[in-house]
Amino acid sequence: MSATVVATAFGGPEVLSVIDADVPEPGPGEVVVDFRAIGVNPVDYKIYGGAFGTDAATLPQRLGSEGAGVVSAVGPDAVGPSGEISVGDEVIAFRGVGTYGARAVQPASSIIPKPAGLDWEQAGGLLLTAATAYDAMEVLGVAEGDVVLIHGAAGGVGLLAVQLARLRGATVIGTGREVNHDYLRSVGAVATTYGDGLADRVRALAPEGINAAFDTVGTDEAVDVSLELVADRGRIVTIAAFERAESEGFPAIGGSDPDSAARRDAARTELVRLAGEGKLVNVVAKTFPLAEVATAHTELQQSHGIGKFILIP
Ligand SMILES: NC(=O)c1ccc[n+]([C@@H]2O[C@H](COP(=O)([O-])OP(=O)(O)OC[C@H]3O[C@@H](n4cnc5c(N)ncnc54)[C@H](OP(=O)(O)O)[C@@H]3O)[C@@H](O)[C@H]2O)c1
Repeated sequence: MSATVVATAFGGPEVLSVIDADVPEPGPGEVVVDFRAIGVNPVDYKIYGGAFGTDAATLPQRLGSEGAGVVSAVGPDAVGPSGEISVGDEVIAFRGVGTYGARAVQPASSIIPKPAGLDWEQAGGLLLTAATAYDAMEVLGVAEGDVVLIHGAAGGVGLLAVQLARLRGATVIGTGREVNHDYLRSVGAVATTYGDGLADRVRALAPEGINAAFDTVGTDEAVDVSLELVADRGRIVTIAAFERAESEGFPAIGGSDPDSAARRDAARTELVRLAGEGKLVNVVAKTFPLAEVATAHTELQQSHGIGKFILIP
């Protein structure tokens, strides 16, 4: 049995419960992971919030697609992207299923070895944001000499995007609340606030112009400023303003798109390596016991501290 989070209805965080669920033996191509730390992501509350449909047949619904823990059972033919998986391995599950639990069956295809130097909390919340940020850098073709505007630079995805763009040799202008500017500067961004006058502030910070923009926020302001400052619409990408992207003719990316999924999967081991070597830092904003998942989701939907929210089973 395992403490497991389920959404029993569609709605706000009040629909979440922690139940004692059976953990079956792993089948072919599956492993069981005893989770130590689980990443909390906005998509988790969007799912039971009904953003992707409200089919009652999917209830009760397990949540979570990433986490880090120790393998406690291995099914037949369970080989991961990095090779054989054994009981006792310290691993990261990314594109996992129902990771909000103390113990859960996961597809071996989602299992990546955790470097010894990466702590549980950073590892458990690393890959969804890092792989998304990486995908955006690829779509934008960010390279040495680019000047990139990142909207929402202090968010989970934004912080990883700042670091990945800097590793590629780009200059980064990142938007965030003033309280986050020191941290943004510490990871190599030029920080500015969002809100009225954003385009003028960015112009003043980058008099030679902006080559590319990454919108992690989805506001009209982020889209409008990107369109105003970046001449080539192929070098604007959003992960949140899907309707605007469609109507204005610039790319939007999502993990369910096969091309994005392939890019993200291909980058997993490299991103984990960089984090293990301390070249990518996944800041942890706050940890919550699994039983306080509803509080975590409530706080994540409000203005919150810099970095990731992590559940500890
Ligand atoms: N399509 C995909 O593949 C994909 C993948 C991952 C995430 N997402 C989506 O991307 C969004 C961000 O995810 P996340 O994990 O980075 O969330 P997060 O950690 O909650 O970060 C969001 C950040 O947005 C900033 N923000 C709030 N209002 C803003 C505004 N008006 N203008 C500019 N920045 C603002 C906040 O920073 P301050 O504290 O500085 O205000 C906050 O830290 C979510 O909607 C999520 O569902 C999409």
